[in-house]
Amino acid sequence: MSQNDLFKKVIAHSKEYGFIFQSSEIYDGLSAVYDYGQFGVELKKNLIKYWWDAVVYLNENVVGLDSAIFMHPKVWEASGHVSAFNDPLIDNKDSQKRYRADVLIEEYIEKQEAKINKEIEKASKKFGDSFDEEKFRTTNQRVINTQEKIENIRQRYVDALNRDDLAEIKKIIIDCDISDPVSGSKNWTDVRKFNLMFDTRLGSLSEEANKIYLRPETAQGIFLNFLNVQKSGRMKIPFGIAQTGKAFRNEIVARQFIFRMREFEQLEMEFFIRPGEEKEWFEHWKNSRMDWFKALGLEDSKLRFHDHDKLAHYAEAATDIEFEFPFGFKEVEGIHSRTDFDLGQHQKFCGKKLQYFDPDLNKSYVPYVIETSLGLDRLFLMILSASYCEEKNEKEDGKIEERVVLRIPDFLAPVKLAVLPLVKKDGLPDIARKIRDELKFTFNCHYEEKDSIGRRYRRQDAIGTPFCITVDHQTSQDETVTIRYRDNMVQERVPVNKLREIAEEKVSMKKILEKLNK
Ligand code: GAP
Repeated sequence: MSQNDLFKKVIAHSKEYGFIFQSSEIYDGLSAVYDYGQFGVELKKNLIKYWWDAVVYLNENVVGLDSAIFMHPKVWEASGHVSAFNDPLIDNKDSQKRYRADVLIEEYIEKQEAKINKEIEKASKKFGDSFDEEKFRTTNQRVINTQEKIENIRQRYVDALNRDDLAEIKKIIIDCDISDPVSGSKNWTDVRKFNLMFDTRLGSLSEEANKIYLRPETAQGIFLNFLNVQKSGRMKIPFGIAQTGKAFRNEIVARQFIFRMREFEQLEMEFFIRPGEEKEWFEHWKNSRMDWFKALGLEDSKLRFHDHDKLAHYAEAATDIEFEFPFGFKEVEGIHSRTDFDLGQHQKFCGKKLQYFDPDLNKSYVPYVIETSLGLDRLFLMILSASYCEEKNEKEDGKIEERVVLRIPDFLAPVKLAVLPLVKKDGLPDIARKIRDELKFTFNCHYEEKDSIGRRYRRQDAIGTPFCITVDHQTSQDETVTIRYRDNMVQERVPVNKLREIAEEKVSMKKILEKLNK
């Protein structure tokens, strides 16, 4: 299956099985806004718990916060978002379509890289085991030329972004002969800046003075509460404040399903440190966050760091943790060294000191900050795309059985266990319900009696349920049930009173957290 097909299937599967729905679908939908369905919300809650437990509970110097979405409008002037939180946009005059100019250039570079990879693939097939990729890259003239072209464009592009030189960005688009992906036209407008913040009005007056913004990041609520938390919690530096919540950005190009949304959720942590210690704490959090991703048990080769070419207006150093989605390696989490930029700016704008008195140094200072900022929806998409699997298995009678299975890590699965009476009679539903009633205090447990047992198994596979418990006639005689495992479809006979122990062992988040804590 091609990666493009995989992506389409993941999207269709998400809707069919109650993970994700288009917002306002009955009114033809609202672009780049999505709702999470009955299984989506469970997976989301489990992902948040995994993050919160690892970041807050495993670290004695990290605490939580839940700040409001609305903040004083001056917050966004101080943070630089009013003046600098912009995307460069360009319109095509013929198709009337609007694009992010930086994305057009990045896609052009990706195409050139794909060309090189194709050459390498061809040569590797031709030369077999004797193929030396490194040598090929440095000697093949076509590859050398394309690589030089990429480096030249990338350098011009990064310089232009850093200088905010919109004319040069347009010139790169023209020089690279980039055409509108829809119409093929090269009739472009100038590049303009577009602020990504949504605004609304506070109270009943519609004057400019009442304009407030929907937060584009949860981080600022943490900075505003830095002293409240530090003083009320008697926190000593270094310490962190974590929070999860909605953020809003008026994305120009909102594509790729829940990858780029206008309303999304962030899991952020700001870690306050002594100035001068930023390099070691940046390394610490980079590694700690990558370990957290790897503990999910997905393929390690699908995760990588990517240092930023262009730094955000607040950052001194930044790296992304990227995952290989069906549409390529893309950012899931950003780790930023934010210096004292935010607290310093708020200090200036509010006129109050936002300093910490360090008893060990016997002096006050504005702390530096290392930030970890994870997008929950991207994490969700990462889990879905890594878990989606189509299988063909030979049954005992020789027939081929097809199934779609979501191999979601057991501890994150929306439903942990489904209890299924083999038939809807002979008292089996009552026994099955009783088992569910006993287990429901420990797990999210489903009961299902409709359809054949095979169809019910496949429905549970499709939502990623790690265990199905089948109650049959033998159960009423010896209090045993069949437990069927999602991944290998093996079935075992086990006593009812062992079920909790067996399932708890497999779906425990504690085990993963213990490993992370080492
Ligand atoms: N406080 C820093 C900050 O907001 P960011 O790199 O702009 O940094 C952090 O965003 C994370 O939020 C990203 O790595 C991504 O996972 C997620 N994110 C950003 N914009 C998003 C969008 N439009 N839709 C979904 N997730 C988004």
